[in-house]
Amino acid sequence: MQSLQDKASEWSGVAAADAFAIDEVNVFEALGGTPQPFVDLSTNFYTRVYEDEEEWFREIFSGSKKEDAIQNQYEFLVQRMGGPPLFSQRRGHPALIGRHRPFPVTHRAAERWLHHMQQALETTESINPDTKPKMMNFFRHTAYFLVAGNEMTRQMQSVPPCKHATSKPAE
Ligand code: HEM
Repeated sequence: MQSLQDKASEWSGVAAADAFAIDEVNVFEALGGTPQPFVDLSTNFYTRVYEDEEEWFREIFSGSKKEDAIQNQYEFLVQRMGGPPLFSQRRGHPALIGRHRPFPVTHRAAERWLHHMQQALETTESINPDTKPKMMNFFRHTAYFLVAGNEMTRQMQSVPPCKHATSKPAE
């Protein structure tokens, strides 16, 4: 069976080695060693998302306040790109597939998410030009990893309860 990583590479067109090139240097340090570039990027990104002319996409984020979404994302990015574990200290394990479970993370949603992230990256001056393509490869691969994870969790939900796991019927 194809792994989620394999699906992510196939669907995103980004090989795993390119997706994780962000780990070859410490991106957090390379960008100055403060959260500010990540705050800038997430603010830029979510400003685009919350103002998206495509209502179906904006709607996906309607359960969260923009300020909270910005903080969740920039703390995750600081942590993932080599900085202090801000996200885990406040929210626990990132568990991205599980955290995205309530949302329709489809191929179409991934492309829209990536469209905004590409534009946000291009216009965030506190991120240097060398780092941008590496971050974009990571985002592309992760977005499709989440699409694959979302499909998998939805398929598992539709599997009827079986007697191999428990004698009690599912509630
Ligand atoms: C593929 C399309 C995606 C969709 C539709 C999507 C949607 C969402 C939504 C609706 C939220 C809730 C907002 C909040 O309250 O924080 C969220 C949270 C989050 N997303 Fe995504 N996302 C996508 C891709 C990604 C990618 C590629 C990453 C990482 C590179 C990511 C990382 C996160 C993180 C860290 C949170 C905060 C989780 C938490 O604190 O509970 N997402 N996402």
